[in-house]
This record gives sequence, C-alpha cells and structure tokens, in this order.
Amino acid sequence: MIEIKNICKSFSEKLVLDNVSFNFKRGKTNLIIGESGSGKTTLLRSLIGLNSIDDGEVLFDGRDFHKLKIKEKRKLRQEIGMLFQKGALYDYMTVQDNILFPLTMFTEFSIEEKINRVNECLKRVNLENCNHLLPSELSGGMTKRVSIARAIVMKPKYLLCDEPNSGLDPKTAILIDNLIQEITEENNITTIVNTHDMNSVMEIGESIAYLHKGKLCWQGTKDDLINSQNKELNNFVFASKLFKRLKKS
Ligand SMILES: Nc1ncnc2c1ncn2[C@@H]1O[C@H](COP(=O)(O)OP(=O)(O)O)[C@@H](O)[C@H]1O
Ligand SMILES: [Mg+2]
Repeated sequence: MIEIKNICKSFSEKLVLDNVSFNFKRGKTNLIIGESGSGKTTLLRSLIGLNSIDDGEVLFDGRDFHKLKIKEKRKLRQEIGMLFQKGALYDYMTVQDNILFPLTMFTEFSIEEKINRVNECLKRVNLENCNHLLPSELSGGMTKRVSIARAIVMKPKYLLCDEPNSGLDPKTAILIDNLIQEITEENNITTIVNTHDMNSVMEIGESIAYLHKGKLCWQGTKDDLINSQNKELNNFVFASKLFKRLKKS
C-alpha cells in the first residue's frame, strides 16, 4: 500500500497540490484522474522525490519516503517500476538491452540469469523473440509493452504509470490498460496510473482518485462514478456526448 497524507506542493506562488490524501491499495490498479493541469504528474513525481513536497507524508508500506536516508531511498526506488512519458526507451539500444538496463545497474545477476529474466518479461507482454529489434522498428503499442517489460524486470512492489496509453488508438490503449491490470493482480503490486482517458476509467477503474485544481475532489469506483452527484467530477466525466448518454441510460 502507498498512503499519501496531506501532500502540499507549490511552484513559485502557484499551489499545485492542495492537501491531498489517499490510500493506494495493494494488488489494485489505482487511478488518478483529472483534466490536464490538475496536478496528476506532479503528484506521481512527488511520491518518489522527482519533485520535492512542501508538506505531507508519502508512506510505502509504512516507510516515509521523504524521511529516508539516501541509501534507504535508493533501495526503495529499486522496488518501484516506472512507466513515465519522459522515461521512454533508449532508441540506440535493442529491446533486450533496454530491458537489461535496470538489471545491469542494480543486480549482480550473471548474464545468463539476466537474459532469462528479460525473456520472462518479454513473454509476459507477448513480445517473445523481439529481443533484437530497435525501438524504431516497434509500433506504438509494442513500445509500451517493452516499457512495461522494463518496468517489471526488477519484480517491483510498486508500479507508477503516467498516462501509459497516451498516443495509442482506443483498442490498443485498452489492451495496455488490461495488461497493466493483469500484471498488477498476478504480482500483488501497488499500481498507480494517471489518466484523463474515460475509456481507461470505465475499463479498469476499481479505485479512483479525482484531482481537480490540485485538490482531491472525489474518490470511488467506476460504478460509483456513474451515479455521482459531484459537480466537478460530472463536468469532467460527462464532457463527451457518449458518456452523457451513458449517464442517462
Ligand atoms: N516544474 C514545474 N514548474 C512550474 N510549474 C509546474 C511544474 N510542473 C508542473 N507545473 C504546473 O503544475 C500544474 C499541474 O501540472 P501537472 O502535474 O503536469 O498536471 P497534469 O499531469 O494533471 O496535466 C500545471 O499548472 C503546471 O503548469
Ligand atoms: Mg500529466
């Protein structure tokens, strides 16, 4: 479980996270939803110190990240898989070398053990035998699969994903959402996914935190969401005609 308590963050004078508290459950794909600029990326980055925070606590199964010593922080970071928009694949490295990278950085495994683990992860994301392709040879969906394989290669306890299906067609986007959810459940990972995509919300929204202008405005499941009376949430969710119709039916 990842618990955040009273997180506050400003950039210069602008308050971006306003006293946000939430429990992200283990074995679940916890969604943070909200319009663009609502603070989702800042929140995710704040969890692992890529952003400092002005106030609050981030507890990884009881360990307060921001109070840990540098060595302990480094150890905890190795338990966290990340799928960030900016942490794309190295385009001069093959798929295999991209996935090997964390193992080479952080483990003493033999080359054979490392390759076995890479193959295990490639198999899990349905990309067996793609080891020697370059990122330029992959489709958008395949690129995300490789990024997922890299994010899970260290068998993380926590998985943080920032808009993992952005830029994909709707069908591929749902496949990626489902893959993240399956891997989360199989390995009992505490997963957090940022998204503004309502298809994702309706597909995998079992634990949802809605951020509006830096405040946690609502929380619940996709079923709660359909019947919610929260005005801001409804404006966000039912912005499209399709979802408006869903609400009426
Ligand atoms: N490094 C930064 N410096 C200044 N302002 C920032 C920085 N990062 C984010 N912001 C601001 O914080 C707000 C929330 O941004 P962000 O967390 O990226 O939202 P989201 O991911 O929900 O689109 C935005 O107004 C953005 O301009
Ligand atoms: Mg963002």
